[in-house]
Amino acid sequence: MPYPNHRPRRLRSTPAMRRLVAQTSLEPRHLVLPMFVADGIAEPRAIESMPGVFQHTRDSLRKAAAEAVAAGVGGLMLFGVPTDGDKDATGSVGVAEDGILNVALRDLAADLGSDTVLMADTCLDEFTDHGHCGVLDVRGRVDNDLTNARYVELAVAQANSGAHVVGPSGMMDGQVAAIREGLDAAGHADVVILAYAAKFASGFYGPFREAVGSSLQGDRRTYQQNPGNAREALHEVELDIDEGADIIMVKPAMAYLDVVRAAAEISPVPVAAYQVSGEYSMICAAAANGWIDLRTVALETLTSIRRAGADIVLSYWATDVADWLA
Ligand code: PBG
Repeated sequence: MPYPNHRPRRLRSTPAMRRLVAQTSLEPRHLVLPMFVADGIAEPRAIESMPGVFQHTRDSLRKAAAEAVAAGVGGLMLFGVPTDGDKDATGSVGVAEDGILNVALRDLAADLGSDTVLMADTCLDEFTDHGHCGVLDVRGRVDNDLTNARYVELAVAQANSGAHVVGPSGMMDGQVAAIREGLDAAGHADVVILAYAAKFASGFYGPFREAVGSSLQGDRRTYQQNPGNAREALHEVELDIDEGADIIMVKPAMAYLDVVRAAAEISPVPVAAYQVSGEYSMICAAAANGWIDLRTVALETLTSIRRAGADIVLSYWATDVADWLA
């Protein structure tokens, strides 16, 4: 035995001792709350597959956002849900000044100013009638460069509406460079790019599709990554950093902790991980059956994502965690 006198249990003897030697911290400031705001609804609408998560009205969004910020969460990530009638092939309602996401960003920017970090999902899938994250070519394939041009317009519209951070999540090649150039040209050199650098084509996004009323038929495997490809994930991370990403993200989180760890080891910029809808729903469902304890498991998963190397974690439990830890 290399350490015959070591008895690790000594350091587990009291809550104070355990607190003193705790290696990984989980604080509300590490967490970002993803939020959905929908057009054309009079009351907040519960998302059935995500208990406790809502499509918000503009008013209920303001209230929930203020609560999250008062609880101490690190930031808010906003997703817009337009009416089906406002969706079109190129996602125009995402760019429109009176589109629901941009309007809600202005609401929150007015309410919260710089008390929080306001982020917007910079993607087309919520806004297109076909549900893909990009613009389609004549053969129905997602066209990389046409899509990037649209992302620039989206990002500039979001920055104009008060977003401090834009989050390109569509996995187009060159999206970060295109958006950086577009933001700078529009006078938004201070707006941060949180790049969904390694985003996998995952079954864990299932409940999100209900959350945003997705119109998608088929899948996203021509742009999102194959779950088995770790080397490619690091290549994507390096490309995004090279293109000017200020923060890089791995998504989903729990099934990809090796990728989070590997990204954290090479990244000179902060690393985020997204605990996605299916990760949330799965734990809620097991807890509702009495099979696991929700709070224990939620905190354990978030701590594990931090332990793997994530500086920032997006989680639908962000406000709850802040309350639990208070
Ligand atoms: C795409 C986007 C998705 C999620 C965040 N941004 C869905 C997808 O790629 O299909 C998923 C988030 C979640 O599941 O919680 N704009």
